[in-house]
Amino acid sequence: MNVYSGGKWGSYRHLPLDSCATVTTPHAWLNIMTPGNLSSFKWLEGNLDPERVQAKPDEKLVQIYYSALNFRNVLLATGNVAVNVSVEDHLIQNNVQGLEFSGRDHRGRRVMGIVYGLALASVLQADKAMLWDVPDHWTLEDAATVPMVYVTAYYVLVVVGGMKRGESVLIHSGTGGVGQAAINICLHTGCTVYTTVGTKEKREFIKKQYPQLTDHNIGNSRDTSFEQLILTETNGRGVDLVLNSLSEEKLQASVRCLAHRGRFLEIGKSDLANNSLLGMEVFLKGTSFYGVMLNKVVSKSPEYEKIVRNMLTEGISAGVVQPLHRTVFPDTEVEQAFRYMTTGKHIGKVLVQIRLEEDSKVVMPVPRLMQAYPWYFCNPSYSYIIAGGLGGFGLELADWLVLRGARKLVLSSHSGLKTGYQSFRLRTWRSCGATVVISLADITTKSGVRALLSEANRLGQVDAIFNLAMVLRDAVLENQTEADFVTSAGPKAVAAHHLDELSRQMCPYLRHFVMFSSAACGHGNAGQTNYGMNNSIMERICEARVRDGLPGLAVQWGAVGDVGLVAEMQEEQKDIVIGGTLPQRIVSCLEVLEGFMRQSCPVVSSMVVADKDARSDGCATVVDCVSRIMGMSKVA
Ligand SMILES: NC(=O)c1ccc[n+]([C@@H]2O[C@H](COP(=O)([O-])OP(=O)(O)OC[C@H]3O[C@@H](n4cnc5c(N)ncnc54)[C@H](OP(=O)(O)O)[C@@H]3O)[C@@H](O)[C@H]2O)c1
Repeated sequence: MNVYSGGKWGSYRHLPLDSCATVTTPHAWLNIMTPGNLSSFKWLEGNLDPERVQAKPDEKLVQIYYSALNFRNVLLATGNVAVNVSVEDHLIQNNVQGLEFSGRDHRGRRVMGIVYGLALASVLQADKAMLWDVPDHWTLEDAATVPMVYVTAYYVLVVVGGMKRGESVLIHSGTGGVGQAAINICLHTGCTVYTTVGTKEKREFIKKQYPQLTDHNIGNSRDTSFEQLILTETNGRGVDLVLNSLSEEKLQASVRCLAHRGRFLEIGKSDLANNSLLGMEVFLKGTSFYGVMLNKVVSKSPEYEKIVRNMLTEGISAGVVQPLHRTVFPDTEVEQAFRYMTTGKHIGKVLVQIRLEEDSKVVMPVPRLMQAYPWYFCNPSYSYIIAGGLGGFGLELADWLVLRGARKLVLSSHSGLKTGYQSFRLRTWRSCGATVVISLADITTKSGVRALLSEANRLGQVDAIFNLAMVLRDAVLENQTEADFVTSAGPKAVAAHHLDELSRQMCPYLRHFVMFSSAACGHGNAGQTNYGMNNSIMERICEARVRDGLPGLAVQWGAVGDVGLVAEMQEEQKDIVIGGTLPQRIVSCLEVLEGFMRQSCPVVSSMVVADKDARSDGCATVVDCVSRIMGMSKVA
């Protein structure tokens, strides 16, 4: 296409954008970009500035030195458990890696603690209720092995299981973190311990670490032979408590190890998440089965927080709580750390070292600067406008903004709430504390756009405007009418014009002005003349804004998968090709959008190019083109 600009003729070209460079930041946090792909871990830029942040009264800012991996993190990272099974809070579903840490607080004192995500980081805001001082005779590396496993073991055995002196306990995976913590607690309480391990080395480790335990107390965790061992060693009685993390037939065998009135304490997630069946016969012995989700119990109950907090404090004073064996990886090798933990070969804990501990017990840490990928944050006090926000892509974009911190949204719509899914999304955001206004102001008129911007300004200064609104009036040119052009221009070209003009006056602090365009505009698409033209007008508006020193970004999307108009068409026609593009997954679109919003080109494209042989216009060859013009679908 020939383009006349700045006194010269030229053409539009697609040029690759530089891939996102890293930034230096005092707050980096680890996240997995694609659950199931351990190579996709990335350190991301956080928004805590250790020099400036004001910690809330019940929180303390902590510079992290060590963070520990937990099975929950591994199950989520490997995609074996879906995040929404493990984490109820919608807002932290993106930020779940890292549940415990050791480090220094704002006065330089050594602390260790538990959080519900974001501890695989350089710095965090720690909840004081789940923070402990590190004893002088421990290193910070020692301390990072302690909080989660001991709190879990105390809570499960003592609070839930009601364990008493003289009882017998089967502790699976005895060399694991929780396993060792549980063995320490049980032996100190005066209980008989049986445990299981998976290798000869681990068996030797147990016998060396706990001389009270012999081969009579140690079974195999890789098959169900431990059932026979328990029944033999207890003369057929079974044990009073089972602390279980094994799954499937090993879980069933463990249930059969229970004595009369025994208690089964399930801390594994797989069988619960997979809704596995359990025979009811076992309850004839008066037994009890407890599914223990520590995160759900403790984080929702200050009462239980206090109980386990005191138990750990007393356990440290009494010498019950001892640091565990650990393997340490540097922060540059988190993928290896996760892979190592998935092999099940580790003994005790797997730690990630964020920084080296100084010799002094109290020292003010200098913030550690790390390289991290930029991460888009919204300001909870500002407002975010999405025209067409109740559409397929609009709802996903709104959710993304909420997950990135937005709490004030104005979703503009022509027809208002219609579907149960839209209402469900709204309820979710509101339950997260977001104010979401549905605006029915007519964005195809100047007064409507003024009303929309005023509505947003009432909530907070407008930080970003996205225009996703669209009405399609597709037809070949000879069937198009003037009315079709007017209708299709309304929510795109006309709305973009008013949004541009009025936001210049009414939104002086605007950071983003984003128009959703289409590959149909860049490449053209049969039957979409008016759609292409209206998207093109939006693109030109964005170019003019950037020339004027204002924010402006038009994104030419190829077909979008999962949600939106094309996804709806896809239900009938699989592998749909539109304008030479295949559907791009919505998660990928949002990831790409983040990069686009951090660069300066006013017009950008993102698409999955279809196989050239499978073009939507069916014109792979001259014969195809001619036959298509003649209205013949197939030429033999
Ligand atoms: N989906 C794709 O494959 C794809 C590909 C390339 C580009 N895009 C672009 O991405 C954007 C979103 O696409 P989508 O698939 O999410 O479309 P969608 O589901 O159809 O959403 C667009 C929404 O715009 C709203 N709308 C129409 N007129 C409006 C008006 N006057 N005021 C306010 N809202 C209005 C409609 O919702 P109400 O009935 O609630 O008003 C409609 O649901 C569009 O701009 C499209 O051009 C999409």
